[in-house]
Amino acid sequence: MIKMEKKNITAIVLAAGKGKRMSGKVQKQYMEVLGKPLLFYSLDAFENSSVDEIVLVVGQGECGYCREQIVGRFGFKKVTEIVEGGKERCDSVYEGLKAAAGSSHVLIHDGARPCVTNQLITNAIAGAIKYQACVAGMPVKDTIKILDQDGFACLTPDRSSLWLVQTPQAFTYNLIMEAYNRLFHCTGSRDRVTDDAMVVESMTNHKVKLIQGDYSNIKVTTPDDMILAEAFLSRRN
Ligand code: CTP
Ligand code: MG
Repeated sequence: MIKMEKKNITAIVLAAGKGKRMSGKVQKQYMEVLGKPLLFYSLDAFENSSVDEIVLVVGQGECGYCREQIVGRFGFKKVTEIVEGGKERCDSVYEGLKAAAGSSHVLIHDGARPCVTNQLITNAIAGAIKYQACVAGMPVKDTIKILDQDGFACLTPDRSSLWLVQTPQAFTYNLIMEAYNRLFHCTGSRDRVTDDAMVVESMTNHKVKLIQGDYSNIKVTTPDDMILAEAFLSRRN
């Protein structure tokens, strides 16, 4: 008899940001969309997926609020840990990874992406198992230009090789933890770390596979994005 290795798949949902570009009174993850806090939607997607557990990463002093007003209120059973994040996104991810110790695979997701679907989560899990490292993305629709210091275009990369990158970003636990351990133990700056794939790309020799995301899987960043998120979410019902 072949014994199957037990997989324990954990989603790390990030909600420790300040939402400066949204410039609202409350952080965007707690703003109401269709009568529920924005963060509800991504937690709901993972709750109803095949991930085993959810680690929720929140801002300093917000654990109690989230436990009662989000996890308790909506009855999310898979949220096993609520931990405080840090100053930058990568600091929050590192806290989430530590709390997810013992997992075989992790899916790291921005709590500010409420339109993530069950299909995307399923694909990210399959990608993590097949490639050890994969991220959801889509081909860019616009032309991208690189500017010089004076704001003049100096390079126009070939659009056919450009993808915009989303979350979930999914990895074997050991690979992403090793990459983050190296990031946090090397002296270089972490300022430019904007996603998890680039930590694997720069800290290990492992290649990251791009899998198909969804154009509606937007990150709510500026006030306009709220209108889009609401439109995408109401289209579902
Ligand atoms: N995030 C986090 N911890 C941080 C910064 C960001 O957990 N220190 C999370 C955010 O809550 C969000 C995701 O990472 O779900 C993507 O970050 P971003 O869109 O930049 O959100 P904010 O940092 O909150 O927004 P801003 O950069 O405009 O302040
Ligand atoms: Mg930010």
